[in-house]
Amino acid sequence: MSEKPRILIQLDTDPQASVFDRVVAVDAGCDHLFAYEGVTPDQVTSLVHGAIFTRGPKDLHRTAVFIGGSDVSAGELLLGAVRRAMLPQWGLQVSVLLDSNGCNTTAAAAVHVAKRHLNLRGVSALVLGGTGPVGQRVARLLFQQGASVRLGSRQASRADTVCATIVARGGAGQVTPAVTSTPEELARAVEGQELIVAAGAAGVNLLPRSAWPSTLRVAIDLNAVPPLGIDGVEAGDSGKERDGVVCYGALGVGGTKMKIHKAAIAKLFERNDQIFDAEEVYHIAQAIP
Ligand SMILES: NC(=O)c1ccc[n+]([C@@H]2O[C@H](COP(=O)([O-])OP(=O)(O)OC[C@H]3O[C@@H](n4cnc5c(N)ncnc54)[C@H](OP(=O)(O)O)[C@@H]3O)[C@@H](O)[C@H]2O)c1
Repeated sequence: MSEKPRILIQLDTDPQASVFDRVVAVDAGCDHLFAYEGVTPDQVTSLVHGAIFTRGPKDLHRTAVFIGGSDVSAGELLLGAVRRAMLPQWGLQVSVLLDSNGCNTTAAAAVHVAKRHLNLRGVSALVLGGTGPVGQRVARLLFQQGASVRLGSRQASRADTVCATIVARGGAGQVTPAVTSTPEELARAVEGQELIVAAGAAGVNLLPRSAWPSTLRVAIDLNAVPPLGIDGVEAGDSGKERDGVVCYGALGVGGTKMKIHKAAIAKLFERNDQIFDAEEVYHIAQAIP
């Protein structure tokens, strides 16, 4: 008998479900997309029960959940609620991908492209804007790969908190806070760095060209909104060498992010017991050239 159609249940924390996420879901091969918007944790149980009580365990790999929306913290709360609502002891569960604001697929893409050019174990890496959803995950993945990470922020307390959270998850590298408010602080933060990832807010320049350290080998800017995050890197750069530095801009990384996003959606339908957060999405990225 033929397999049941693939149903993706999109739980979005925003008042309007993301069009971007819906298009990717269709392009990734979902047969049906059920989009729910403005979803809060208290609404999740009945939505998940609708998913797990309809098809039997042998068909539940053909149903999956995608958690999106612009607020990653709200998405993380939904993920917790989704996990609690499932009944794995009876095989009544479905696979879940968390990618609020593209945080996991974007961070995985950034680290994946960096790895094309650098051995991440022991590499000196600075993540500017490291306290945001994307930057936190970039730093977390680099730390887990054994990098020596500086996590940049305008505020020491914010950087301290994020570093502590990353260390608590475990990993082979090092992560230390770096305040980057003034040109002098920025100069100290970039000193000796081989990899710099700018994950600051859209439209905020975090690294002038004059501040590139002589040690820099790879520069990755995730901000596509002018002014760009790193002066001297163009949005469309995809491994372009500029003054001896391999550069990636937001659109250049975006191509890899799209491949990872589609691959992660497709993989949801292979089994019914998978939870994809940053680490799992990065693992999926390894199969992408
Ligand atoms: N290419 C892609 O496919 C893709 C996909 C998703 C997102 N993105 C981009 O990735 C970047 C990171 O996304 P996000 O959602 O993590 O960003 P975000 O939360 O908006 O900002 C990240 C960090 O930037 C710092 N920041 C904010 N305003 C600033 C300002 N005026 N001056 C200096 N620093 C400032 C903040 O850190 P502190 O307050 O600690 O300094 C903040 O935590 C964005 O540019 C986003 O557009 C790209």
